Amino acid sequence: MTDTMIGVIGGSGLYQIDGLEDAAWTEMATPWGAPSDAILTGRLGGVPMAFLPRHGRGHVHAPSAVPYRANIDALKRLGVTDLVSVSACGSFREEMAPGDFVIVDQFIDRTVGREASFFGTGCVAHVSLAHPTCPRLGAACAAAAAAEGITVHDGGTYLAMEGPQFSTMAESRMYRDAWGCDVIGMTNMPEARLAREAELCYASVAMITDYDSWHPDHGAVEITDIIRTLAGNADKARGLVARLPGILGPARDACPHGCDRALEHAILTAPAA
Ligand code: ADE
Repeated sequence: MTDTMIGVIGGSGLYQIDGLEDAAWTEMATPWGAPSDAILTGRLGGVPMAFLPRHGRGHVHAPSAVPYRANIDALKRLGVTDLVSVSACGSFREEMAPGDFVIVDQFIDRTVGREASFFGTGCVAHVSLAHPTCPRLGAACAAAAAAEGITVHDGGTYLAMEGPQFSTMAESRMYRDAWGCDVIGMTNMPEARLAREAELCYASVAMITDYDSWHPDHGAVEITDIIRTLAGNADKARGLVARLPGILGPARDACPHGCDRALEHAILTAPAA
C-alpha cells in the first residue's frame, strides 16, 4: 500500500476547490518551466490534495498555451498518485446534455504543435495509450458524481481539438457521425499522454456546456452560452471533488490497470554505462 494523493486539474470555471485543511498556494518550478499557476495543496477528509487551475486564476492561458508538461511534472513532484482532470466540453450526443458530466475513456487527438512527451532526446520511451484513462479512478469519479446527483455518462470518446476557435459545422458532423466521438474539448491532450508517461492514474471528467455546432435545433456554439452553463457545472464539480477522498481513501494498492508502472517496459534507450 502507498499513500493516496489526489490531484485535480480544474478547467474553465473551476479555479479553486473548497474546504481544504492547511490550504496553501505553492509556486513550483520544473525543468519544463512554470506550471499554469501556483498549486493549492491541503487535506480533505484526511487525504492530501493538490489543485491546479489549468488556465491559471483569471484564465490567462489559452488551450494551446497551457504548459502541459510543467503541470504534470509539478503534480508528480508533489506526490500526486491519482489525477482527475476536470474540463468543459461540447457534446455530440442528444442524450449527453449541457449540465451532464461524462467520464471520458477514449480520445482522438487533433491537436497540433503541442509538446506532447517528456521523452525525445537522450531517453526514448513508448508507453501504451490503448486505454488512456484509469478505469479505477474513472469509476471513483462516476460514483462521486452519482452521489452528488449529477447526471453522469460512464464512458465516452473525447475529440481533442487545437482551438481556440470552435469547430466548423462540417467538422462537428464528421467527428460525430464518421468518427463516433461523444464530446469535444481543447485541453485533455496532451495532458492524458503526459499523465501516462508520468505513471499517474488519470481520469477525465468532462462537463458539458453546449452541443457544439452539429445540432439542428441549436445555433453555433457561443462563449456566452457556455459561460451560462459553466457556473452550475463548476458547483457540481466542486461537490464531486469533495467526495473523492471518501471514495479513494488515504492509501492505495498498485493500480490494477498498471497506470503506475507504465514505463516498466517502455524505455528503449540503453542505460548509461
Ligand atoms: N469547450 C466547451 N465547449 C466546447 C466545444 N464545443 N468545442 C471545444 N471545446 C469546448
